[in-house]
Amino acid sequence: MRLHHLTLTLIGLVFAIGLLGAHAPVFAAPASPAAAAPLPPGPKAPPSGPAMAQTCAGCHGTDGRLHAAAFMPLAGMPKAQFVQAMRDFRDGKRPATLMRHVAEGFSNEEIDAMSVYFAAVKPE
Ligand code: HEC
Repeated sequence: MRLHHLTLTLIGLVFAIGLLGAHAPVFAAPASPAAAAPLPPGPKAPPSGPAMAQTCAGCHGTDGRLHAAAFMPLAGMPKAQFVQAMRDFRDGKRPATLMRHVAEGFSNEEIDAMSVYFAAVKPE
């Protein structure tokens, strides 16, 4: 159990160092042929909560379900609480070691989409 906890912490730290070092936006989707193809004209697709939520898994667990206390689980977090937390991190109103950098990458619309997703995940 202790080892598991340590492993998760290390994964989180490695991920964080990579993030800060590369200055890469955390939400960048991996390049795939499909993503590179030109989009057909039409209204912009709404942001996908589940897709964006994948980028949180490194620290918060798959689907925001985390069985260790190193990082807080997001599964089942009420929408309003999630939105407030993300905006506060982004706007520097809530102190954060890592989350300001993460939250800066998302618009209000994208935060809303993720809030719907995480609120619907049942915490185990
Ligand atoms: C590099 C690790 C890391 C990543 C990636 C990450 N987080 Fe976090 N998250 C943290 C840490 C650490 C905290 C505690 C606050 C702090 O110190 O930044 C936190 C806290 C939070 C909180 C507050 C939880 C609470 O109980 O109030 C929310 C909401 C959150 N993260 C959402 C997200 C979302 C959404 C993503 C993906 C877009 C994400 N996080 C990606 C590390 C991370």
